[in-house]
Amino acid sequence: MLALKIKDITFKNPIMVASGTYGYGNEVSDFVNLSKFGAIITKSVTRNPREGNPPPRIFEVSSGMLNSIGLANLGVEKYIEEKIPYLNKIDTNIIINIAGTRIDDYVETLEMLEGADSKHIGYEINISCPNVKEGGMQFGVSPDMTKELTQELRKRTDKILIMKLSPNVTSIEEIGLASQDGGADAVSAINTVMGMSVDIKTKKPRLSTIMGGLSGPCIKPVALANIHKLFKTLDIPIIGIGGISNCDDVIEFMLTGSRFVELGTINYKYPNLVETLVDQLQSYLEEQSIDHIKNIVGDLMIENK
Ligand SMILES: Cc1cc2nc3c(=O)[nH]c(=O)nc-3n(C[C@H](O)[C@H](O)[C@H](O)COP(=O)(O)O)c2cc1C
Repeated sequence: MLALKIKDITFKNPIMVASGTYGYGNEVSDFVNLSKFGAIITKSVTRNPREGNPPPRIFEVSSGMLNSIGLANLGVEKYIEEKIPYLNKIDTNIIINIAGTRIDDYVETLEMLEGADSKHIGYEINISCPNVKEGGMQFGVSPDMTKELTQELRKRTDKILIMKLSPNVTSIEEIGLASQDGGADAVSAINTVMGMSVDIKTKKPRLSTIMGGLSGPCIKPVALANIHKLFKTLDIPIIGIGGISNCDDVIEFMLTGSRFVELGTINYKYPNLVETLVDQLQSYLEEQSIDHIKNIVGDLMIENK
């Protein structure tokens, strides 16, 4: 059995799409069966349209990539008009990722989505984007602001509320606790790790923003360490993200305490990985005589605690 719940919502399996790595779904629908996912999390949407950062804003590094997209998106009005009708047709749970620069931005965006003719079951709140000068991260590094934002959003929705956490903080546990205290139903972790690369011939940074967000297999150990810390501290479910590329990775994240996982950078290489992953997870359970996937969540053997 691969089906799992957050609150009263059932997900057919624990595999989700990580925000920003699949657009709004329609871009990849010709070659991926999107209904195979437990949930699709859409690219961050903001109150107003954003062009994002100037190029170059993507660079491949050893075992990963740097990006500084800067939350380029069409804004919530167009999102509702142009993207939701397609998302409504996909036979799986849809979670809308929201980003903002002030509490009011997040609140207005969420309120507009609450009023839309949309079947989405929840929100992932991006408080952890390292690629915009003025926004997002200021919430993600402050427990007080994280709690206040979570509370303001909680007041306005009964749908699932997930706070997406950054590894670029001193204590991810404090931010996780602030999310939980503010009323979040789950946290997702991690967003990208702050990184940089330099072209030694031109002596120029590879990204126009100098620094950017590192993702892919190279951040997997960072993600696992952060999830381990969160699992020891929180009661709400954790959605694990960071460099997941195959079925073994999914199991590793679940043993460490993730109830769900998100596939990010791997989508650029194998956009239809989910189709094999679901079968492989099922085979793993059968081989290990495990009845239900939930039984491996946090089942880490630690001898010297
Ligand atoms: C090109 C790119 C764009 C991204 N855009 C967003 C975004 O819009 N909102 C968000 O919350 N995370 C965004 N992310 C972060 C991913 O959702 C994910 O947290 C991160 O890449 C780590 O997972 P991975 O190593 O599997 O890619 C983006 C990542 C990449 C690589």
